Amino acid sequence: MSTKKRILTGDRTTGKLHVGHYVGSHRHRLAMQEEYECFFLLADLHMLTTKNTKADIEKTSENARTIVMDHLAIGIDPHKVTFCLQSAIQETYELQLLVSSLVTVERLQQLPTLKDMASSAGLEQMPYALLGYPVLMAADILLPRAHLVPVGKDNESHVEIARQIARRFNNAYGDVFPVPEPYVMGGALVGIDGQAKMSKSLGNVILLSDDAQTVRKQVMRMYTDPNRISADVPGQVEGNPVFIYHDFFNPNKAEVDDLKGRYRAGCVGDVEVKEKLITALNNWLEPQRERRDYYARQTGFVDELIYEGTLRAREEAKVTLFEAKKAMGFTGAWNRISRAAEKRRKKEAQQLVAA
Ligand code: TRP
Repeated sequence: MSTKKRILTGDRTTGKLHVGHYVGSHRHRLAMQEEYECFFLLADLHMLTTKNTKADIEKTSENARTIVMDHLAIGIDPHKVTFCLQSAIQETYELQLLVSSLVTVERLQQLPTLKDMASSAGLEQMPYALLGYPVLMAADILLPRAHLVPVGKDNESHVEIARQIARRFNNAYGDVFPVPEPYVMGGALVGIDGQAKMSKSLGNVILLSDDAQTVRKQVMRMYTDPNRISADVPGQVEGNPVFIYHDFFNPNKAEVDDLKGRYRAGCVGDVEVKEKLITALNNWLEPQRERRDYYARQTGFVDELIYEGTLRAREEAKVTLFEAKKAMGFTGAWNRISRAAEKRRKKEAQQLVAA
């Protein structure tokens, strides 16, 4: 048994990870893998809450592989963490239902995050599944009995629901679950268009898996100071996406300071600033591309990783679910009924033999 505290966090299997995911969340996982026992969930059932066509679901395995590969590329060590596929952990479906009486519809309806998700998915009405999104998350978190849940701001209120469910369960039926702590991660990256949120649907992303040419194309499209119509107009550095990215991805601080100084003075063109950002981003992505190639050459490696991890997560989940059912009294009901039924069957069989 590991003495490390346990973490569970996850990603919906909706596609490739971008540099915004990295800044907001995944870079923190690099440090976490050393300090905690980490479960990284490939949350395909959560995708179902807003996208449920057969075509969406068919993409799950490919998307799950992609997300794992993105983790390995940034330097997550496959031997240190457990990747698991949510839909293959059957205990999830059961626990979600068992804990669903511990939270009210009103409480869930008050969460602004769910309304936002519904509207950004173009849904006019709230599906039952989407209302249950935080309850499903609670099942994810409680099954491995995670202590800590790293999430972005947008999922903080959902962890609060999981805490409420854990507390209510323990009070009502006995201590089964640690009350999980949210671990709200810092950092966010604007999109290349300067919008606060980077998202594939807005087309304002740089993917971790983009090749050098695509990175070039995206940086060249990047929004800068709109008032600067030529290189000799003094420009605004603060809040300018191209400098936000330089600050984050260019390790050559002297170069960045020099560019900022000349930008403010109107002594540098956007193209030079962007060229240097392209170089910095590609230098940063290069080791990731090498790791990607390294793992891609080992055919089936990622599948095996997800397979092993899911089996491991299921072992944990089975134990927890049994404990939860026992605490609630469900195992007792079934045991009594099945024992009585078997006794009757045996008696009938004996009577047949005797006759
Ligand atoms: N809801 C998370 C997201 O925004 C994914 C997720 C699913 C999750 N289950 C979780 C995160 C449990 C933390 C804990 O995509």
